[in-house]
Amino acid sequence: MSKLLVTGRKKLSGEVSVQGAKNSALPILAAVLLTKGESVIYNCPALSDVEASVNILRYLGCKAERSGQTLVINTDGFNRSDIPDSLMCKTRSSIMFLGAVLARSGKAKLSFPGGCEIGLRPIDMHLDALSKLGAEINERHGCLECSAPYGLRGNKISLPFPSVGATEHIIIAACLSGGTTTLTNAAREPEIVDLADFLNACGAKIYGAGEGVIVIDGVSSLSGCAHSVIPDRIVAATFMSAAAATGSSIVLGDLVPAHLGAVIPLFEDAGCKIKTEKCKLKISAPKRLKPFRTVSTMPYPGFPTDAQAPVMAAACVAGGTSFFIENIFENRFRHTRELARMGAKIMTEGRVCVVEGRDRLYGAKVEATDLRGAAALVVAALCAEGQTTIGSLHYLERGYENLELSLSSLGADIKKI
Ligand code: EPZ
Repeated sequence: MSKLLVTGRKKLSGEVSVQGAKNSALPILAAVLLTKGESVIYNCPALSDVEASVNILRYLGCKAERSGQTLVINTDGFNRSDIPDSLMCKTRSSIMFLGAVLARSGKAKLSFPGGCEIGLRPIDMHLDALSKLGAEINERHGCLECSAPYGLRGNKISLPFPSVGATEHIIIAACLSGGTTTLTNAAREPEIVDLADFLNACGAKIYGAGEGVIVIDGVSSLSGCAHSVIPDRIVAATFMSAAAATGSSIVLGDLVPAHLGAVIPLFEDAGCKIKTEKCKLKISAPKRLKPFRTVSTMPYPGFPTDAQAPVMAAACVAGGTSFFIENIFENRFRHTRELARMGAKIMTEGRVCVVEGRDRLYGAKVEATDLRGAAALVVAALCAEGQTTIGSLHYLERGYENLELSLSSLGADIKKI
């Protein structure tokens, strides 16, 4: 098992380009199944979670070839409607394939995606919505058997919570349905807009993505197209946390500053100077961060839950006390235990976390607990005195493409062993 070896307290400088968004690539790879012919997906990050979706497409009979950041997928060979547990369990977002397979073949059989490190991750909203679109869903021994012999039909659906995955799943399932689907209380994340842009370029009729009400007029067929995935706003927030924690000044390229609307003001309040222009962001951190005012995770356009852990790592060395409230997932403070091993002073009570900034953290042997928790440990190691070894790197590799190479190009002393 590879580990990361980091010697902290090195200043960062220079420019790094932000990878394509994992959470945009994943729903798009499920949506590709709806289309006939060939799609070319540019700026698609090479991540284990993305590889898991590519393997599902191949299992279903599609051709998928990667060269660098470009994936070429041809769905003409699509010939199955079951996905085995070995492929389903790799990533949560594989549930999106349920609606895609059902929409194309009228039936689907796949295993129930398990929960994960940050919470139970139920899929009740997904299944309720598919039923409203005419799917018959039987769940037996952890396996979902679904059918829609007469195809899926448009309907009015209102989500009890603006779930990102459920919103994306409904868009995917409704595109080829008969009639119109009106989705209210939809999630507004940029990744949902990116999914709709891809599908509309393939011939879909999706209106209002990015707003709370999305209307999908079902069409009879979709044909593949070329699409470039938006930059990953969470990876951008992670690099900002690394700069903030080390008192550095760096430039992030190829990102969309508008996607960081709730993140930038928090770093400015903590004393960072941030300049943005078209697709670049320059962050210059003070020698010592001021504490982050209350960081409360919310659905977009609020502060993103995925950035909570990396920002908390920077807060561990701020000059004062920061407060974090995790409103989205019920178990997303697991990184605090590992940060405490590095000298962080953190108290958690339910969904609230109080971080008392310390003068410094100290290198230690730590284990990642989940994807964004792993990123938090990297940020903490960059500003810690001495050497840190980070284990369970598979978590990090789910969402960050060669993070150690990008950070060492900025001057960090970090290597994979
Ligand atoms: C997506 O997960 C992202 N994953 C997550 O990123 C992200 O944290 C999350 O959205 C919130 O922004 C992908 O896009 C692949 P939700 P998703 O449905 O769709 C509950 C990362 O680190 N819920 O918006 O699963 C759920 O338990 C990952 O990149 C139900 O109760 O998030 C959670 O408490 C982690 N029933 C809340 O809603 C459902 O049917 C929000 O979940 C669905 C969700």
